Amino acid sequence: MPDAVRIAVLASGGGSNFQALVDRFQPADVPDREIVGVIASREGAGVLERARRAGVASAVSPPSATGDEMEMFLRRTLDEWRSDLVVLAGYMKLVPETVVRAWWGRILNIHPALLPSFGGRGMYGARVHRAVIEAGVRVTGATVHFVDEAYDRGPILCQWPVPVLAGDTPESVAARVLTVEHRILPAAVEALASGAVRLDADRRVRWVREWFDTETFTNREG
Ligand code: GRF
Repeated sequence: MPDAVRIAVLASGGGSNFQALVDRFQPADVPDREIVGVIASREGAGVLERARRAGVASAVSPPSATGDEMEMFLRRTLDEWRSDLVVLAGYMKLVPETVVRAWWGRILNIHPALLPSFGGRGMYGARVHRAVIEAGVRVTGATVHFVDEAYDRGPILCQWPVPVLAGDTPESVAARVLTVEHRILPAAVEALASGAVRLDADRRVRWVREWFDTETFTNREG
């Protein structure tokens, strides 16, 4: 049997998306995928407690690391864990360019809006949903994309829409989007891990076989 696909996670917050990945990939009947560790960008991040409970290794990036130190820390940790795929699940920092290059086509990020709208530097957390409400759009959603050198800019792998309703607040939109994130992120990671989708050298996302069930946005085959 081929080795398991080894998945590392980077996170900054409560880690509910990390949890969704653990729930999907950690069960014993999914031996060909493994969550090998989580890197938190700060001490005290809720994701660390979730990792502990799940028995997943964790590391915290040094608080005052310079760009070079940060890059070395990330590379060393991801290498140590022999990470095949890297998933940014609520990770607030920019991934250093050499890390993006070393894992090109193998790093995904989830963003709580329909990119290319409402993304980029400074667009995170409640700010995204506040901007959505202020813009008056009727549809927002979740996007999973390949990571490149800029915030929220890399090629899009999949998206799912979520309505914006009368009386919505940033919190109510965030909660509605988050439930979708928990479904779309594991599905996107599985699509990449299984080889159903890949990123080509020309930065195009190629679906080797259509994979998403458009009613449920889950794996058609699973
Ligand atoms: C999610 O909305 C994610 O899209 C964004 O940060 C939030 C993290 O939530 N990038 P959690 O830490 O996974 O609960």
